[in-house]
Amino acid sequence: MAIPKVLLLSLLPFLPCTSAWGTLGHDTVAFIAQNFVSASTATWAQNILADTSTSYLASVATWADSYRYTTEGAFSAPYHYIDANDNPPSSCSVDYDRDCPAEGCVVSAIANYTTRVKTSNISATEKQKALKWIVHFIGDIHQPLHDEALEVGGNTISVTFSGTATNLHHIWDSNMPEKLIGGYSLTDAKNWATNLTAEIKSGSYASQAAGWLSGINGADAKASSMVWAKDANAYVCSTVLPNGAEAVRNQALDGAYYDKAIPVIELQIAKAGYRLAAWLNLIATGQVGLSVARKPRGAEVVEAVRIAPRDEERIKMARRARAAFGWNCGPEGHSH
Ligand SMILES: *[C@@H]1O[C@H](CO)[C@@H](O)[C@H](O)[C@H]1NC(C)=O
Ligand SMILES: *[C@@H]1O[C@H](CO)[C@@H](O)[C@H](O)[C@H]1NC(C)=O
Ligand SMILES: *[C@@H]1O[C@H](CO)[C@@H](O)[C@H](O)[C@H]1NC(C)=O
Ligand SMILES: [Zn+2]
Repeated sequence: MAIPKVLLLSLLPFLPCTSAWGTLGHDTVAFIAQNFVSASTATWAQNILADTSTSYLASVATWADSYRYTTEGAFSAPYHYIDANDNPPSSCSVDYDRDCPAEGCVVSAIANYTTRVKTSNISATEKQKALKWIVHFIGDIHQPLHDEALEVGGNTISVTFSGTATNLHHIWDSNMPEKLIGGYSLTDAKNWATNLTAEIKSGSYASQAAGWLSGINGADAKASSMVWAKDANAYVCSTVLPNGAEAVRNQALDGAYYDKAIPVIELQIAKAGYRLAAWLNLIATGQVGLSVARKPRGAEVVEAVRIAPRDEERIKMARRARAAFGWNCGPEGHSH
């Protein structure tokens, strides 16, 4: 390796800002959840958010991506992902002890804000923020590249999409969902959510939706979120980078790559919305409360991943790369 990665990163041209599913993805996840939560959960959420409109969750779904760019909210930037230090495409895995650093990650954040939204001793504003973060982070954790350390979650893999120079992370967040739907307005999200809700209730997802709640446990947010992180991370090996980073670097991905990716994107958006509804039901009522759901099986027993000394160095480098890149959109990056 001739040039250290950190130096290489500093030589990269300015990259577009990326932050998990774009507006379309997050709003769609929220609308799907609205379609599945129980009536009492809906009232509970509307009270906290002081919003009884028909988009009470969708309206707050991207707040966290604006807040992270404020001075006050900068601490929350690492909460949008977990940098899994695995080896795609040959092996994918997420390990909490290995991959969630001291400053936190999406798994610790979901756990923290689940506790906080339930306590009575924080201010109404803080409780509102906690709920807004849960709505957002359960979306984020379902984007495979939010569960991957390689190339800063694909942010440093340059690609083109429909003639635009961008990066792999960004096309998973925004370009591919927007190509499918043809826009990113609240109405686009609502229509996509209506379609995916029907697929869950009686369409192509009907037979699998109950299985999506496998491992969900209202008393253990960390274990539940780890199930979702591992589920999404597995797609890094199978679909995001099946032939490694070099196979897609500088390639046009709006053709055959898009065709293989889009079913996974639809599936992950549907799962995120359904699991968000179940999670909010558990918080508000203590019950999963989804009629199509079978009784969830217990959380799977997860073998601890031992960290080899060789990997410790690799993890340090990945964290240095993430730090050099900036917690948000690169060293100079800013939201748009
Ligand atoms: C939990 O959330 C609060 C409020 O945002 C934050 O101050 C605190 O650092 C968080 N704790 C953890 C462990 O993430
Ligand atoms: C709020 O209550 C929790 C226990 O439910 C406790 O751990 C926490 O310290 C309390 N916070 C404040 C600010 O009193
Ligand atoms: C969802 O949209 C797709 C693509 O337009 C369509 O083929 C499918 O029938 C729709 N599903 C439902 C349940 O309406
Ligand atoms: Zn995010």
